[in-house]
Amino acid sequence: MNSVLITGSNKGIGLEMVKIYLDQGYPVIAGCRNPAGATELQALAASNNKLSVEAVDVGDPSSVVALKERLGDAPLDILLNNAGTAGPAPEMQSSQDIDFDGYLDTFKVNTLAPLHMLQQFRANLKAGTNPKAVTITSQMGAISFEFINMMYAYCASKAAVNKIMRMIGDDMKQDGIAVQLIHPGWVKTDMGGPGADLEPIESAQGIVETIGKMTLDDSTAFHKWNGEEHGW
Ligand SMILES: NC(=O)c1ccc[n+]([C@@H]2O[C@H](COP(=O)([O-])OP(=O)(O)OC[C@H]3O[C@@H](n4cnc5c(N)ncnc54)[C@H](OP(=O)(O)O)[C@@H]3O)[C@@H](O)[C@H]2O)c1
Repeated sequence: MNSVLITGSNKGIGLEMVKIYLDQGYPVIAGCRNPAGATELQALAASNNKLSVEAVDVGDPSSVVALKERLGDAPLDILLNNAGTAGPAPEMQSSQDIDFDGYLDTFKVNTLAPLHMLQQFRANLKAGTNPKAVTITSQMGAISFEFINMMYAYCASKAAVNKIMRMIGDDMKQDGIAVQLIHPGWVKTDMGGPGADLEPIESAQGIVETIGKMTLDDSTAFHKWNGEEHGW
């Protein structure tokens, strides 16, 4: 088994996926912005030598390149682009008002960073076993999702990453790398809020199971956490 690299893994869905892959016996590289403050990850790492905690701010291209330099040619079986941001305050990403810098930050993290990660770690994935590059998107990025007149930057950034993954998926198939998009459900995390439908562990278990069933033939698919296909 080669490593699984997960971004945004200090809390929420990312942290639960770290725990599941460790339980499955994978070496896990847990990326987070602030390793010193990632107390739960650090506690896990203290008792499990298969877990390494690595600093990476995916919105900062130099931080992603630095991570690539530290990991070198290490083969990866799974890259999980999980880090995400909800973007500016809702009223500043609405039909009424716009926070330009906030929009750009949202696109950096939710759209450009997943692409940059795939570019930087393509060779590592190519060297892995049945390699998979998965991006956690959102139903809010689906054009077919019932109209909601809110969270413009977030919705648009996820719609854009859907398109990008669909395009690069065809390209990466040539290297034997399956590319997939997964909507994690509405989940009780800092982002989803306490009124959401799913516990983080339920979402993470479904995502990991869905990834486990994925083959190269499913490349460029868009799934829900429970394995159902998601409409574009
Ligand atoms: N929760 C939901 O209902 C829901 C629904 C649809 C899609 N999603 C997607 O699911 C993914 C995980 O979200 P979550 O619900 O687990 O939310 P969460 O608990 O708020 O976690 C978000 C994670 O992303 C990290 N992150 C944000 N900006 C980053 C950056 N520039 N560099 C590195 N890490 C960064 C956060 O790190 P810090 O702690 O440093 O901020 C945190 O670890 C996201 O892509 C989100 O869009 C969630």
